[in-house]
Amino acid sequence: MSPLQLKTPYFLIDEHKLLRNLEIAKYLKELSGVKLLLALKCFATWGVFDIIKPYLDGTTSSGPFEVKLGYETFGGETHAYSVGYSEDDVRDITDICDKFIFNSQSQLKTYRHMVAGKASLGLRLNPGVSYAGQDLADPARQFSRLGVHADKIDPEVFTSLNGVMFHMNCENKDVDAFVALLNVISDKFGNYFDALDWVSLGGGVFFTWPGYNIEKLASALKAFGMHYDLQLYLEPGEAIITQTTDLVVTIVDIVENDMKTAIVDSCTEAHRLDTLIYNEPAFIKESTENGKHTYVIGSCSCLAGDQFCVANFEEPLEVGQRLHILDSAGYTMVKLNWFNGLRMPSVYCQRTNGYIQLLNAFDYQDFKRSLSQWSVN
Ligand SMILES: Cc1ncc(COP(=O)(O)O)c(C=O)c1O
Repeated sequence: MSPLQLKTPYFLIDEHKLLRNLEIAKYLKELSGVKLLLALKCFATWGVFDIIKPYLDGTTSSGPFEVKLGYETFGGETHAYSVGYSEDDVRDITDICDKFIFNSQSQLKTYRHMVAGKASLGLRLNPGVSYAGQDLADPARQFSRLGVHADKIDPEVFTSLNGVMFHMNCENKDVDAFVALLNVISDKFGNYFDALDWVSLGGGVFFTWPGYNIEKLASALKAFGMHYDLQLYLEPGEAIITQTTDLVVTIVDIVENDMKTAIVDSCTEAHRLDTLIYNEPAFIKESTENGKHTYVIGSCSCLAGDQFCVANFEEPLEVGQRLHILDSAGYTMVKLNWFNGLRMPSVYCQRTNGYIQLLNAFDYQDFKRSLSQWSVN
């Protein structure tokens, strides 16, 4: 099947590009001894996990259903973490996870007895420093609830802990900045590490970015792990699926109100939410930097400010033309919603042999069911 025969909107995951990222991940593991867990919060399209599994060690999660999904569809090591567990959550997942990481000392104290003997016990610590572009995504922002801050640690907790987790990076492409954070962690928390078996350094390290100095990252990780005699983990999401997937849309109308807007059959609020939340414009494959024809690529939702980007094109755009919205895998499919009752994008994977495999498709019944299954009468 040719991509032109597929109905838009759809996501197209390119296996070849995914394998490129995974080979880099494998190289990092080999050089450093670090274990890598796929962060399901970023990407959980389990239909392609058979491609990813041979390269990574397992999954990490941010809620109970992600734990179950990782266990069922990925295997390997299953790490459970949540900012807040209920007692039911703890009961549901203790038997299927390898590491159980609490966000606070109070949760650890309350539920430790339910986990002990079943999973390795962990606690998230907050180093108070971070590398994050936006305050909304900064784990070290003022009053952060994410992890235990250094001055609040009760050293007693380390007598029953097996490991700790830090997460303090967001799309960090600067290896020196990462190493500096690692040094802060050593200084602030190093005296606790002797009692531990493992430390997870979280996600947000963009080691698949072109030109990233993998060797430097690997040697810093290796030295850290050896110094404290720890198994180190990273929890990459975006680094694994970056630049692998297009959201393909069709222009359904062009309107002009001082500026030309091409309206496409998708929207950021439902299909690419982070474009809106973080106000970070998308990139369109067909655009060129100096093209003479400038358009707003506008969404078909009712939200006035819902647009993908402003882009330049060599030729005027036309109704019926397709556009490829680049780099649309991370934090997109996991956040899809039915706002406005728009058609939900299908999900495909283009295999290395060219074959296009359908992974997911949605229809009106999925929309209806998401709203109610039973009526009051
Ligand atoms: C605890 C934790 N681990 C891993 C990740 C994955 O981060 P990324 O997709 O930027 O690699 C996140 C992202 O927020 C996180 O909070």
